[in-house]
Amino acid sequence: MDVMEAIKGRRSIRKYGDKPVNDETLQILLEAARWAPSWANTQCWRFVIVRDKETKSRLADTLKGTRPGRANPATEAVRGAPVVIAACAERGLSGYYKGEDDMSLPATDKGDYWYMFDVALAVHNLSLAAHALGLGTVHTGLMDAAAAGKILGLPQNVTLLELVPLGWPDEQPAPRPRKETSEFVFNEKYP
Ligand SMILES: Cc1cc2nc3c(=O)[nH]c(=O)nc-3n(C[C@H](O)[C@H](O)[C@H](O)COP(=O)(O)O)c2cc1C
Repeated sequence: MDVMEAIKGRRSIRKYGDKPVNDETLQILLEAARWAPSWANTQCWRFVIVRDKETKSRLADTLKGTRPGRANPATEAVRGAPVVIAACAERGLSGYYKGEDDMSLPATDKGDYWYMFDVALAVHNLSLAAHALGLGTVHTGLMDAAAAGKILGLPQNVTLLELVPLGWPDEQPAPRPRKETSEFVFNEKYP
């Protein structure tokens, strides 16, 4: 599958079949994540691979909806997917001057928020590779990240960003609409 085909064909998948994802396949996806670019090649992403049913269910319970009383559409995906990848960042690496003694000095006006950028690049590499192999994923960011982080035993310097259910799709969602490029591309100057 070529890159444009993978980019345009990928959908958020929220329903999965029971067929397991074997370790070999998972390794291919983690390899795709491994080759993502990152701030000064600091590679701050950290992944916790969850296969345990009880843990997945507890993680699903930390998801929130976009409004009070509304469930997150990915809740049952996190509960039921054969694998959930918890995508985290080790803090204090991305966004800093590399190798400086004083790592408290951020290199740009974005502080250390570059970690979000780096983890997103790695996770999306993984999502595209999954799609190319016939697997499905959904980026899932709306949750009580502190509660989910506790379940996963994350130390203080590691921040959970996303839970990514992974499995064999049991649905074929239609593409969500996209803006025309003319709506978000400006020539030479922002109007
Ligand atoms: C940072 C981020 C967070 C997201 N969080 C959630 C989420 O909590 N629950 C969910 O169901 N989908 C979530 N999504 C998926 C988006 O809703 C989805 O990507 C978007 O509607 C476009 O659909 P598509 O991925 O099928 O093209 C998230 C996507 C991104 C990039």
